[in-house]
Amino acid sequence: MAPERTTQTLVVLGAQWGDEGKGKIVDLLTDRADVVVRFQGGHNAGHTLVVKGEKTVLHLLPSGILHAGVECVIGNGVVLSMADLLKEIHELEAKGVELRGRVRISSACPLILPSHIALDQARESTLRGGDKIGTTGRGIGPAYEDKVGRRAIHLGLTRDEAKFSARLEELFDYHNFLLANYYRVATVELAKARDELLKQAGELRPMIADTVEILHGHRRAGRRILFEGAQGALLDIDHGTYPFVTSSNTTSGGAATGSGFGPLYLDRVLGVAKAYATRVGEGPFPTELFDATGEHMAKAGNEFGSTTGRGRRCGWFDAAAVRLATQINSISGLCLTKLDVLDGMESLKVCVGYRDAPSNSPAVESYGRLRPLYEELPGWRESTRGVRSVEALPANARAYIAFIEETVGAPVEIISTSPDREDTIVLRPPFG
Ligand code: GDP
Ligand code: IMO
Ligand code: MG
Repeated sequence: MAPERTTQTLVVLGAQWGDEGKGKIVDLLTDRADVVVRFQGGHNAGHTLVVKGEKTVLHLLPSGILHAGVECVIGNGVVLSMADLLKEIHELEAKGVELRGRVRISSACPLILPSHIALDQARESTLRGGDKIGTTGRGIGPAYEDKVGRRAIHLGLTRDEAKFSARLEELFDYHNFLLANYYRVATVELAKARDELLKQAGELRPMIADTVEILHGHRRAGRRILFEGAQGALLDIDHGTYPFVTSSNTTSGGAATGSGFGPLYLDRVLGVAKAYATRVGEGPFPTELFDATGEHMAKAGNEFGSTTGRGRRCGWFDAAAVRLATQINSISGLCLTKLDVLDGMESLKVCVGYRDAPSNSPAVESYGRLRPLYEELPGWRESTRGVRSVEALPANARAYIAFIEETVGAPVEIISTSPDREDTIVLRPPFG
């Protein structure tokens, strides 16, 4: 009989609308990993790590970067702003983090160009009130459009200056035509952009690699690989609250396509969810609160975007939405973060379904009109901030977690009680 296979790969992803605390959890679990991989999104992500009170916000580098010796891979599914990646690298190096030799970037990453950013911002500013997406303005949507439209320039092409320059000129022609004639805004200067891009590419060159080959080498060597999602399931281009979504597959299938790691090599999927719900940007949010309770959550949870600084909208935990996220991602376990934010609340509501819902798919137009069905649970007076064992949690907090497990249909394996790496309860180690 074959020996039991222990878990070697784990996907960590957001089970709500992003900002669930993925960065903290990936950083924490990296002490058990050899490699951490980003597989989709770009610098629209903002992942916060707090280690002994010191805060680091990452946008492109995988959240394993603070662990010496761990390899950090940016997979082919990521749309890459070379300028922003370099900024992040320089900031970390200035803090004394040793990056040399352990950052690998797929040569197949489509580049985010300055014209993508101009297009993203021009589009947002011309959309009327209710149609605005509230993007991060980082060029993510236009860059993915070019990828699917088979016009994108891959990072690897920067190694051939002549070919790169010719393709850039063609693409700029197209982008500048849209900027000038459709959006009627300023165009982006080609020569300056080309020089800057080539300079950036020169600096990144030692890190450009065939990451598919590298990852399979690690797999064959039995190393532990952690795949780090960005955004969240309800922002997925196919399964999220379309069109108020991001432009990539944030769900677990994206880990396979965005890294070249076949789905059967992915052992477990950890869905990270806040103990309540937040959303930044526009779009439907059935359990959103517009009252003092929502304001309290925003204040207690310090709910301001890690990338744009925008205030996040807050609401009750939507177990129906997280149940859906569990199915579309094949979530094998949940991590519940920010439990401490609910301290001191008299009672807590959990959305268990919707009234008269013909469909509760976030991808349908009617999603925004859903009326949640709530169950109310008693809150707790005690502080859970910094609690590190399940026994030390108030009985009502434990009952709240048990109710979420049962309603969502997935076990809670990790509980987070403060931004700090150490303030975490690991009930079941996600790696074997
Ligand atoms: P990510 O995008 O999923 O990595 O999450 P963000 O970093 O954008 O947002 C999560 C925010 O919550 C950050 O400011 C974290 O430092 C913070 N955070 C994470 N876990 C906890 C927790 O358990 N309690 C509290 N109070 N804050 C947390
Ligand atoms: P992390 O990884 C929360 C949201 C934007 C907007 C929509 C589309 O930190 O969880 P985009 O710029 O991607 O075209 O914007 O998606 N959004 C996020 N919301 N967390 C994120 O990342 C997000 N990245 C994008 O606010 O509503
Ligand atoms: Mg974030």
